[in-house]
This record gives sequence, C-alpha cells and structure tokens, in this order.
Amino acid sequence: MTPDARPSLTAILSALSEEQSGLLEQLKGAKKKTVAGRDFWLGQLHDQPVALGLSRIGKVSATLTAAVLIGHFGASRIVFTGVAGGLAPGVKVGDVVVAHDFIQHDLDASPLFPRYEVPLYGRSCFSCDPALTALLKQAADRALAASSHPASQLLTGAQVHCGLIASGDRFVSSAAESSRLQSALADAGHTALAVEMEGAAVAQVCADYGVAFAAMRTISDRADDTAHIDFPTFVADVASQYAQRIMEELMRSLPETG
Ligand code: ADE
Repeated sequence: MTPDARPSLTAILSALSEEQSGLLEQLKGAKKKTVAGRDFWLGQLHDQPVALGLSRIGKVSATLTAAVLIGHFGASRIVFTGVAGGLAPGVKVGDVVVAHDFIQHDLDASPLFPRYEVPLYGRSCFSCDPALTALLKQAADRALAASSHPASQLLTGAQVHCGLIASGDRFVSSAAESSRLQSALADAGHTALAVEMEGAAVAQVCADYGVAFAAMRTISDRADDTAHIDFPTFVADVASQYAQRIMEELMRSLPETG
C-alpha cells in the first residue's frame, strides 16, 4: 500500500434485517453507529473494511441510507443485496438477478417529461458500475456453482441473470399488475427482469456522488398472486444465505485499495 492509500470502505446495503443477519454474524470487530435513526455496523468482512446498512423499504428510505453511507461514512462503493419479484419469463424463485441498470417504474412526470424519465437528468435508466458489476456477477456465478454442496442452502439449478431491474414504491402482488407493468415498460422500450422497491434510488444517489454501485437480487417470488405468501417465507428461510455466500465471494475478489 502507498503511504496515502487508505483501504476503501465498501457499504453493503440490504432492505431488511433478515437479509442482513448472515453478514452481521460474519462481521469481525463489529461496531454499531446510529445516524439518522438508523443503525450501521462497521467492521471487517473477509478482511475488507465494510459498513452494513439497512435501506428499509421504499425509495425515500433507501435514498437517505445511501446518502448517509456516502456522506457520513465515506463509502467508496455500495453493493445492494436483497430480494426481488421475478418479471421476465425464466426468472425463477431462487435465481439471482445482477443489475445492469435501474428504472423507476412508478415515475411519470408526463406530459412535461417522457414517462419514466427522471426530470432534469434527461434519462430513465441509471447504470451500475461495470467493473464492480462484473465482479458481483462472477461472485454470484461462483456461489451458485457451489449450490449442489450438501451444506449449501442455495437452491440447486438456480441461474444468474444480468439486466434491467425496475424499482417502485409498490409491492407487486398480482399477475395482472405484473403484466401491466411489463407492457407499459415495453411500450417505452424497456425489458425489466425483476421488480423491487429501492435499487433505482440508490443508483441515482451513487450517480450523483460518483460512487460505484452494484446490486444483486435473489428472486423471492414471481410478483404474482402468491407473492405475498412466497416473499416472507423466502426472506426468513433463504435470502440471508444468498447474501452471505455471494458477498463472501465478492469480498475475496475486491481490489485492496480504492
Ligand atoms: N421485492 C420482492 N418481491 C417483490 C415484489 N413482488 N414487488 C416489489 N418488491 C419486491
């Protein structure tokens, strides 16, 4: 390490404590700090300095948590790990979607701006950092390749997809709503693989600060009429295992300084 090179702080964001619990168990030297009514955990995860944060649910809460991680703790990269509803055909429960970019499916300032366009940014989609995303995709591939191991709680046969994720302040819980959402996005030229409630907000904050962002979501439900049953079961039983395994692979592949 050169004299002025400091190890960069990686922030790992999850929406819910159930998704974060496995990471917290593995955090060495964990110290809790509370900012803006939120608990953050600082420590070492597989020899990387990290801050664990909870975005809570929805875009406003996620925006604030991301801004605290960057502005207060000085995070130089943010990785989101959580769950999502599958939208595109072939995106099954237990699969992982690594985000290429994000769109807000509930943003509509038309006729002032085209539907989905973020006013005054001139664009609808916010891209993730290509280098960090490539590392995250490789980490997910490695973790899922090991899923046939008897000790693994990851679902066997699960696939890793990479593409657009749609975020909005709605839990999508009917097949009718899922297909309306997909066809409205398709009319504007977008195909989303999955839907969740925070990622696009964090992507926009990271773009504003010039901080690298990558995100992975394990598919907990198909955003259809059984989503409200599938989601809590999956979050309680398996989501944290995915976060733990994939973040371990990612931490081991990160460069030492940033
Ligand atoms: N996160 C997980 N499943 C979801 C769904 N069906 N809608 C929105 N966010 C989700």
